[in-house]
Amino acid sequence: MYSGLDDVIAAETTLSDVDGINGRLVIAGYSLDDLAGRTSYEQLLALLAGGFLQGDAASIRRELATARREVFHHLKSVDATILALSPIEALRALMARLPDGEDKATAYLLLAAPAVFTSGLLRVRQGLALVAPDAALSHAADMLRMLTGAAPSAVQVAALDTYLVAVSDHGLNASTFAARVVASTRAGLTSAVLAALGALKGPLHGGAPGPVLDMLDAIGTPANAETWLAAELARGERIMGFGHRIYRVRDPRADALKTALGRLASDGAVAVERMALAEATETAALRLLAIRKPDRKLETNVEFYTALLLDALGFPRDAFTCVFAVGRVGGWVAHAREQIDHGRLIRPQSRYIGPVAA
Ligand code: COA
Repeated sequence: MYSGLDDVIAAETTLSDVDGINGRLVIAGYSLDDLAGRTSYEQLLALLAGGFLQGDAASIRRELATARREVFHHLKSVDATILALSPIEALRALMARLPDGEDKATAYLLLAAPAVFTSGLLRVRQGLALVAPDAALSHAADMLRMLTGAAPSAVQVAALDTYLVAVSDHGLNASTFAARVVASTRAGLTSAVLAALGALKGPLHGGAPGPVLDMLDAIGTPANAETWLAAELARGERIMGFGHRIYRVRDPRADALKTALGRLASDGAVAVERMALAEATETAALRLLAIRKPDRKLETNVEFYTALLLDALGFPRDAFTCVFAVGRVGGWVAHAREQIDHGRLIRPQSRYIGPVAA
């Protein structure tokens, strides 16, 4: 009956609004079109949670940098057991070591940790020495530096900021709902974020961008795109990176990421052949999907350009979900606090359809 809860309103929020009909995402009163490419992650946090974090973008940047240094020591405990896990499971294991609480200090640790842990885990996995956080840098710049060991270019930092802002909040998606349910029990922000991470890991939520790269690898050259995609559709397969449950027009996040990717390409950070392959694949996919499903608009979604952007920034495809968490944790913390401040215990009902007791 309510399977999927599509039409159920389970929270009131001032944080974000997903307008699927018009293809518009509003975050804290601002259209993503105006935020993306112009807003750092710290400025975004000031909009989403500035009241609770008690600061403007400059003070949030300082406190976030301090928190990165505070959580860094947890990486020294990364052992073979953690390294045997997938990156998102390893991130979940490390996040579980953070203290629980509902206060500002806990929030900063949670906001800082996914960036520090993701970059650190990827280095340890490659047998490279850890790179300690640099409090002078922005969150995005420091994450890239902790990943590669080298200072990123301004265009790379802007690209990661664009990504983190674009995915920071998106209505009552599955992971955000999970965070609100746990926060409503007053278990603490860390417990809420861990529940959200568990939900994000699922392939129906945050686990999708990796397969877009697999698809591009399989297509190989722009000339092969149309034939490859047509064969895939003829077999009844779905084209990765297209279609969305809510957006009936183009996902506005796809546009923001495509622009950032174009800037990376102009800066020489994306191979010309790669861009040509991506564009040929997108054009062919949209053409074929329009023919196949004329009644249902299947447009490019956030995952298509996420895959290309994160790949160009040097993140391995099995860690894309972790980078998603680096951005989305801002939304999780803000929603959890909103639930604590304005909500009640979330406790829906189920309808019993089992056998009747004698
Ligand atoms: N390629 C081909 N066909 C697609 C498609 C795609 N990417 N997305 C949807 N369709 C088709 C379905 O096969 C279905 O056809 P049918 O009615 O003949 O069975 C129809 O469109 C509706 O699909 P449905 O599963 O009801 O849409 P949804 O809104 O529940 O699904 C997604 C949304 C994102 C799960 C879906 O579009 C999809 O699987 N996309 C590919 C994976 C992806 O990009 N995931 C990242 C999401 S951000």
